[in-house]
Amino acid sequence: MANVVVVGAQWGDEGKGKIVDWLSERADVIARFQGGHNAGHTLVIGGEVYKLHALPSGVVRGGKLSVIGNGVVLDPWHLIQEIETIRAQGVEITPQTLMIAENTPLIMPFHGELDRAREGQNSVAKIGTTGRGIGPAYEDKVGRRVIRVADLADDATLELRVDRALVHHNALRAGLGLEAVNRDALLAELRRVAPEILAYAGPVWKVLNEQRKAGRRILFEGAQGALLDIDFGTYPYVTSSNTIAGQAATGTGIGPGSIDFVLGIVKAYTTRVGEGPFPTELDDADGQRLGERGHEFGTTTGRKRRCGWFDAVLVRQTCAVSGVSGIALTKLDVLDGFEELKICTGYDLDGEMLDYLPTAADLQARVTPVYETLPGWQASTAGARSWADLPAEAIKYVRRVEELIQCPVALLSTSPERDDTILVTDPFAD
Ligand code: GDP
Ligand code: IMO
Ligand code: MG
Repeated sequence: MANVVVVGAQWGDEGKGKIVDWLSERADVIARFQGGHNAGHTLVIGGEVYKLHALPSGVVRGGKLSVIGNGVVLDPWHLIQEIETIRAQGVEITPQTLMIAENTPLIMPFHGELDRAREGQNSVAKIGTTGRGIGPAYEDKVGRRVIRVADLADDATLELRVDRALVHHNALRAGLGLEAVNRDALLAELRRVAPEILAYAGPVWKVLNEQRKAGRRILFEGAQGALLDIDFGTYPYVTSSNTIAGQAATGTGIGPGSIDFVLGIVKAYTTRVGEGPFPTELDDADGQRLGERGHEFGTTTGRKRRCGWFDAVLVRQTCAVSGVSGIALTKLDVLDGFEELKICTGYDLDGEMLDYLPTAADLQARVTPVYETLPGWQASTAGARSWADLPAEAIKYVRRVEELIQCPVALLSTSPERDDTILVTDPFAD
């Protein structure tokens, strides 16, 4: 049986949510394996819009098991609110349809405060984070002082865990001029949310392995994108987790051999939110047009996304690092009506040609893109559901992308709507 990992292959917001929702029809279990509610995944189904942050994009389809794996950092207050919002849209969420790994680290209010305090302090430290406490929560996980889902079940353990975290955080907060955390108020808040969170808690690693042995299909849903990966991204302008496909195994507790297909989600152009290098960024009318046609505003923070031409160098690199088997190319319709389109095929570094993005920050800032120009198309691709509906120039563009990134297109998306999707190769096919 095939298990599929979906990962972003650029700087996030590639359309992972739409594709995961579409693919989830073929899956039995949908599992998030990293990130937190910094993610913003928009699904459009028959005109109804669902905005998901912490919940897996599989929840919207009934009859599936959605899983939050241990690789995620979870804000329990946010999750309870998100469940309410999505339920109000008519989606059923119960302990039968949602399971949270017992070893999932929890995001505390002081993580968000620390994140925002650092971001506000001075421009040198600014990353342009979502301000949701993601980085500080992962720091505490690695620092062995985080509070985890299972800790909510025993009051004595919970108190110990809170005290352990506060030794560190109160010292840090004093240095930043923040008040000490009110221990009793925090414990009271944790005790209040504990029963609701614990109702969903379970041994995810065990359930996933049982499901796998029973021949069920698991769809692993990544958040963010490979260029925001803590190791392989444009460090330090990255998120604090591994966002690449290998994380699907460690972020849920299945072996790497259980992954049969890695689907990289790739936008037909490039966007990024927050600070950091972006070689093909456009400051001109073309960039403006991409942003307007693509509605490039963040789902989580509402910030305007930076836009630029498709960068084949970056996507070839991220497809390699995630072992991408095939890509889903999204938002092709946004390119409708351009006279000409550019694709970055290499970088010029002081006269030297590079076929990859170097690691050093000063070099990343200095590379200039080398472009190839392709003819645009005037006909509409919006809502196309078969290759036959695509203008010849659009097909040429897609074929050139495949060639340059050295990876085939498995799916093509032509609008935000679930069914405006062209299937080329079924990732779940055995
Ligand atoms: P994610 O974070 O990767 O799930 O992506 P987001 O949901 O943050 O951003 C993608 C946006 O593009 C959403 O508003 C989607 O509804 C929309 N979208 C997805 N696929 C397409 C497409 O093929 N065409 C157009 N025009 N919009 C799309
Ligand atoms: P989805 O899943 C785009 C970016 C932030 C910032 C950096 C670090 O919707 O693709 P963080 O709050 O994670 O510490 O911020 O990462 N970022 C995203 N950009 N899409 C996302 O998620 C993102 N999640 C984080 O803008 O630059
Ligand atoms: Mg998003």
